Amino acid sequence: MKTITSDMTLKEIVKEVPRSGDIFRELRVDFVNNGDKTLADTAVEKGFDEENLLYEINEMETVNEDGIDIKYMDEQSILKYIQRKYHEDLKDELPVLEEYMEKAVKQHKKERPELEEAETLFKRMKDDILEHIENEERTAFKMLENYLENPNPHLLEALKPYLTTLKGEHESLAQYFYEMRALTNDYTPEAGATGEMRLVLQRLEKLEKDTFNHLFLEGDLLFDAVYEQRSSTF
Ligand SMILES: [Fe+2]
Ligand SMILES: [Fe+2]
Repeated sequence: MKTITSDMTLKEIVKEVPRSGDIFRELRVDFVNNGDKTLADTAVEKGFDEENLLYEINEMETVNEDGIDIKYMDEQSILKYIQRKYHEDLKDELPVLEEYMEKAVKQHKKERPELEEAETLFKRMKDDILEHIENEERTAFKMLENYLENPNPHLLEALKPYLTTLKGEHESLAQYFYEMRALTNDYTPEAGATGEMRLVLQRLEKLEKDTFNHLFLEGDLLFDAVYEQRSSTF
């Protein structure tokens, strides 16, 4: 494996060691939307010790949680993987989690009134995520599939505005999770939390993890790879 150094960008690091994304999320570093920043600059900005972090990252496996080395995936495989692993999951998970959350918040809103805000935030986030992936599947992903099968300058130019809009939406989706972390004390249940509340917090944290991995693969690897292709290369 390539040694990870502090002059590498966050995007290069997460591409090489996908599990490093978990550490960045916990440090509230948005590697999805700030992937072009170097680790050194991010450490100064956020005030963490880069030496410890580098040591930890260099000890990590280079495959993701499914045992896949994402840097070797081609664009078509990324597209299929995203649909199967993330989009399908979200359509199942979000409505179920909403119901659990309503129930758990009712049990706890007296001692943790901020959880009501978390619930309102979740509903907005759920609607936005579902609308976002529906849009992707209805238009951009279909165009992308066609383009990958038959790359040509017209399709590329038609596709770029869609990718720009979707990437912009990724920024607001990531933002939701920073607010959710703040409202749920980093998804930490309090001592007397009910089983339902513990489950909800666990699932919210998993949703954050999956969403960051999803947006990274999609925006930083797939969309950027296509976006960087020039019509002049045809
Ligand atoms: Fe997506
Ligand atoms: Fe997306």
